[in-house]
Amino acid sequence: MKHFTTLAVPMLGAPLLCLSLATAAQDTDPETGLVMAEGWETVRDNCTACHSADLVTQNSGSRNHWEKLIRWMQDTQGLWEFPPETEATILDYLAEHYGPKEGARRPPLPRTLMPDNPYPTVAEPSG
Ligand code: HEC
Repeated sequence: MKHFTTLAVPMLGAPLLCLSLATAAQDTDPETGLVMAEGWETVRDNCTACHSADLVTQNSGSRNHWEKLIRWMQDTQGLWEFPPETEATILDYLAEHYGPKEGARRPPLPRTLMPDNPYPTVAEPSG
């Protein structure tokens, strides 16, 4: 029975950790998950009619990427045209809050910082 007490600590800790991570991030709309910043209601009103907001929040890219995506939906998926100010609001919001994920991954380590190859018989590129 002793192992139950040791398990209880990490199991209680996990939800608390999730809570503190969530509050450290920007406020998000509980319904759509969209970051609640300038323009988010415009995005909610125009971008969640056909599909879940998850498609939006799980995507990321430059303003150009988002613009191409909107054009693609307008050309092929029946997305309506936006007045220029509305489109600018949407693109500003998306580029700002769902922008390119640069730096989300560190660059690969140089070979000199890697441990020795444990399989020395495998041919290594020369030079
Ligand atoms: C008229 C319907 C409609 C509206 C409104 C709409 N979309 Fe879409 N969107 C689609 C369809 C259809 C797909 C393809 C869904 C699929 O592949 O399951 C899609 C796919 C996407 C994808 C995924 C693209 C990919 O590479 O897989 C993203 C991101 C997206 N939409 C963002 C938006 C944004 C941002 C808006 C608001 C400007 C928006 N959508 C409004 C119809 C719409």
